[in-house]
Amino acid sequence: MNILVTGGAGYIGSHTCIELLNAGYDIVVVDNLDNSNIKAIDTIKRLTGKDFPFYQYDMLEADKMEEIFANNKIDGVIHFAGLKAVGESTQIPLRYYHNNITGTLILMQLMEKYDVNNIVFSSSATVYGMPKTVPITEDFPLSTTNPYGSTKLMIEGIMTDASKANPKLSVTLLRYFNPIGAHKSGDLGEDPKGIPNNLLPYVAQVAVGKLEKVHVYGSDYPTVDGTGVRDYIHVVDLALGHLRALEHCSDKEGVHIYNLGTGNGYSVLQIVDAFSKACGKELPYVIDPRRPGDIAECYADAAKAKNELGWVATRGIAEMCEDTWRWQSKHPNGFDD
Ligand code: NAD
Ligand code: UFG
Repeated sequence: MNILVTGGAGYIGSHTCIELLNAGYDIVVVDNLDNSNIKAIDTIKRLTGKDFPFYQYDMLEADKMEEIFANNKIDGVIHFAGLKAVGESTQIPLRYYHNNITGTLILMQLMEKYDVNNIVFSSSATVYGMPKTVPITEDFPLSTTNPYGSTKLMIEGIMTDASKANPKLSVTLLRYFNPIGAHKSGDLGEDPKGIPNNLLPYVAQVAVGKLEKVHVYGSDYPTVDGTGVRDYIHVVDLALGHLRALEHCSDKEGVHIYNLGTGNGYSVLQIVDAFSKACGKELPYVIDPRRPGDIAECYADAAKAKNELGWVATRGIAEMCEDTWRWQSKHPNGFDD
C-alpha cells in the first residue's frame, strides 16, 4: 500500500513515516518545510534504511500537488500538513484558514480526481473546546476557542460532507491529545522554531540550559496540585495509532472518529518532576498567571480506539520524558546540530 503523507517532515509526520516504512508500507511525502527541516527526511531514510519520494511542495499549489498524484499510484493519504500554533492563529487567522482549509480542499479534490478513497486526518482535542467534564469521549459537544481549532473543526465538517457525497470514501478523524517524546535513536524529535509555546519543548530547553526556568501558567486550577492537567501521549504511540487506523478503517466507507490519548492526566508540576528525573537535575520553575484560553483539565477516554482499533498507548510518562531528553541533549539546537 502506497501512502501519501502530507506534512511528513514535521514532528508527528516524521515519526509516522518511520513506523509506516518499518511496517512495510511505501510512502510518498509532501512538505513545504515551512515548520520543519529537510534533515528530518534524511533521518527517516537513515533510520529505516529505506528510500521514498519527497516533494518540497506547498499544498496550496494545486498544479504541483497534481504532479504527485499523476506520478505516483496513491492508495491512501495521511494528512498532517497544517499550521498549528494556537496563539499565532489569533494573530494571522486568514493565513491559518487559507493554509489549512484551502490545502485540504486541493488535496481532497485531487483524491476525488485520482480515485483515492481513504484519508486519515490529524484532528485535535481542541475541537472539544472547553469540555464540561473529563475524560472526554468522542461524542462530546464540539466547539472551538481560536482560529487554529476552528480550522480543525471545519476540516472535520468538510471531510464528513465529502464522505456523504462519495459513498466509496473512508475518512478517519484522529483527535490527538498532547503528543510529546521522540524516537528512541535520539535523532528525531520536536524541533520548534523560536521559543516553544508548548510545555514539553520548553521544559526540555530549560533542562539543556537554553532557557532559564519553566513558567508554570497558573496554580489555582481545581486540579491535583492547582496546575493544568493534560493527556500526554508518546509520539511513537500516536504514530502507531495511525497504522491501526489505516488497517482498520481504510476499506470501511464513512467517517470514523477516535481520540488518541492515554486516558491519563498529568499536571504541569508532575511533568516538571518527571522531566527532572529523566535528565537527572532539578529544574527551576516559577508560578505565573494563567495563560488566557487554557482549561484546567483535558484528558481522553481512550476506550473507543482500544475496542475498535485494538490500539492502546503503551509508553508511560517516564519514557516520554527520557526520550525527549535523549533527543534534546543529543541535539540542543534541534536538526541544526
Ligand atoms: P509540524 O508543524 O511539526 O508538522 C506539520 C508539517 O506540515 C510541517 O512540516 C510543515 O512544514 C507542513 N506544512 C504546513 N503547511 C503546509 C503546506 N501548505 N504545504 C506543505 N506542507 C505544509 O506539526 P505536528 O506537531 O507534527 O502536527 C501535525 C498535525 O497534527 C498538524 O495538522 C497539527 O495541527 C496536528 N496536531 C498536532 C498536535 C500537537 O500538539 N503537536 C495536537 C493535535 C493535532
Ligand atoms: N504550560 C505551562 N507553561 C508553558 C507551556 C504550557 O505551564 O510554558 C501549561 C499550560 O498552561 C497547560 C499545559 O502546560 O496547562 C500544556 O500546555 P501546552 O501548550 O503544551 O498544550 P495545550 O494543552 O495548551 O495545547 C496542545 C496543543 C494544541 C492542541 C491541544 C489539544 O498545543 O494544538 O493540545 O490537543 F489543540
